[in-house]
Amino acid sequence: MEQPDPMIHFENVTKEYELQTALRDVTCSIEKGEMVFLTGPSGSGKTTMLKLIYLAELPDQGDITIAGWNTGTLKESSIPFVRRNIGVVFQDFRLLDNRNIYENISLALRIRGIGEREIKARVYEALKTVNLRHKADSYPRRLSGGEQQRIVIARAIVAEPTVLLADEPTGNLDPETAEDVLKTFKDIHAKGTTILIATHNRELYMNSGKRVLRLEAGSLVSREVC
Ligand SMILES: Nc1ncnc2c1ncn2[C@@H]1O[C@H](COP(=O)(O)OP(=O)(O)O)[C@@H](O)[C@H]1O
Ligand SMILES: [Mg+2]
Repeated sequence: MEQPDPMIHFENVTKEYELQTALRDVTCSIEKGEMVFLTGPSGSGKTTMLKLIYLAELPDQGDITIAGWNTGTLKESSIPFVRRNIGVVFQDFRLLDNRNIYENISLALRIRGIGEREIKARVYEALKTVNLRHKADSYPRRLSGGEQQRIVIARAIVAEPTVLLADEPTGNLDPETAEDVLKTFKDIHAKGTTILIATHNRELYMNSGKRVLRLEAGSLVSREVC
């Protein structure tokens, strides 16, 4: 039997910044529908790896394939099409304080020219997934940290991406709230989305039964199920 193509594949990927090799000869795959954690100390290359997948950066050496697209041979004009398959929960993509939750989540759909009826259906579906339907009319600052993070996740999934990337999604949350956020990711994963979560929060992945990719100084040092 032929193996299906992985959703994400890194082949001997190296990424260098001026003073630093952020990733060194990394080879790994994430299968379709898999939920994987990416861990390692601060500065080990986790965010860099996510940025490469999201095409915010390009590798200096090696190949990256996302959903069958080789990012090395991709035309610049195709980048938005690849990105449409990817939802992101990144620390620097904050909610807009002067827009309510419904508007925050709908923005990404509106700029794609999707009609208002469909936007409404999708926004409420995303809010249902993160269990916050009743907050559609609230403003971000009225929500707790954990609720805000779940809204960020709703915004990331509203366009129904096949891949969801999250960078330290529980970084500023207490353990109980972090648990709620993890539950939200598990629910999304159960619907078939491929998920990669960068975190140094051991609580999230210990005994999770998921694969954990561990980086140290830019090198992939283990890939075990925890
Ligand atoms: N834009 C950048 N310019 C220069 N160096 C960078 C840049 N981004 C990351 N680095 C360096 O690359 C290494 C990996 O960073 P990063 O991927 O952010 O690690 P992590 O997310 O695991 O903390 C670090 O040494 C960091 O200082
Ligand atoms: Mg980081």
